[in-house]
Amino acid sequence: MDLTGKVALITGASRGIGKACAVKMAELGANIVVNYSSNQVLAEEVVKHICSMGRKAIAIQADVSDQQEVEAMVEETIRILGSLDILINNAGITKDSLLIRMKEQDWNKVLATNLNSVFFTTKAAVRYMMKKRQGRIINISSVVGIAGNAGQASYAASKAGIIGFSKSVAKELAQRNILVNVIAPGFIQTDMTETLSAQQKEIILSAVPLKRYGSPEDVANLAAFLASEECSYLTGQVIHVDGGMNM
Ligand SMILES: NC(=O)c1ccc[n+]([C@@H]2O[C@H](COP(=O)([O-])OP(=O)(O)OC[C@H]3O[C@@H](n4cnc5c(N)ncnc54)[C@H](OP(=O)(O)O)[C@@H]3O)[C@@H](O)[C@H]2O)c1
Repeated sequence: MDLTGKVALITGASRGIGKACAVKMAELGANIVVNYSSNQVLAEEVVKHICSMGRKAIAIQADVSDQQEVEAMVEETIRILGSLDILINNAGITKDSLLIRMKEQDWNKVLATNLNSVFFTTKAAVRYMMKKRQGRIINISSVVGIAGNAGQASYAASKAGIIGFSKSVAKELAQRNILVNVIAPGFIQTDMTETLSAQQKEIILSAVPLKRYGSPEDVANLAAFLASEECSYLTGQVIHVDGGMNM
């Protein structure tokens, strides 16, 4: 797979799955925008690492739940790196609690960060991609968006929303040669899952046929394929990277 000359914008790329996607795409030749929310030091480290590989990379701080910040980020990407060929909507948060205790404020925050963001970034990016008549959009959902999970109603709703959104825009954008696909990771070892208790981790692991947690690289490898020329006849799909949790 070769992404030489392509420009990839990855939201939430300062750590975890987003960082692994950024590094993998850079290994394959792409220039990278590392979006982050607050962790400037980590984002700059990712940029430094990618630049040491001979690629161009910039870090852009933008809250993906803010439409104006997202539009400015997309404009800056095209102005500085000259193109936008691959968009990975990866930034995401959880604010878990049982429904009965879930605060409207937390619900809104999760939906805004995980779902409104995908609308904002995709709308801004496709304005450019449609003119170019090419583009790849990869949205990171979750096993929880498919199966649900007690204590995660807001997160599940946001991740299920990503799937419906992606299938709809995949149909709208196919004639412009813009492919839109979804990755639904299972349990991936990152900061997001680090906060789970040992007991919770054990329960999750017992539901994974491959009997291990996934790594951020397991997700990044699929994202790289979905962004590549080798993947040309696949759109509107939800692909599970979950060790077989969902079959
Ligand atoms: N880990 C899993 O097991 C798992 C499973 C299924 C799906 N996923 C999904 O995969 C994606 C990445 O997860 P992860 O585990 O890698 O998460 P993570 O380690 O917690 O990293 C989250 C990333 O999102 C960024 N971010 C958060 N809010 C943002 C905002 N408002 N604007 C811009 N960036 C923001 C963070 O930036 P800062 O560093 O600046 O805070 C960070 O780079 C998420 O969408 C998550 O829901 C994860």
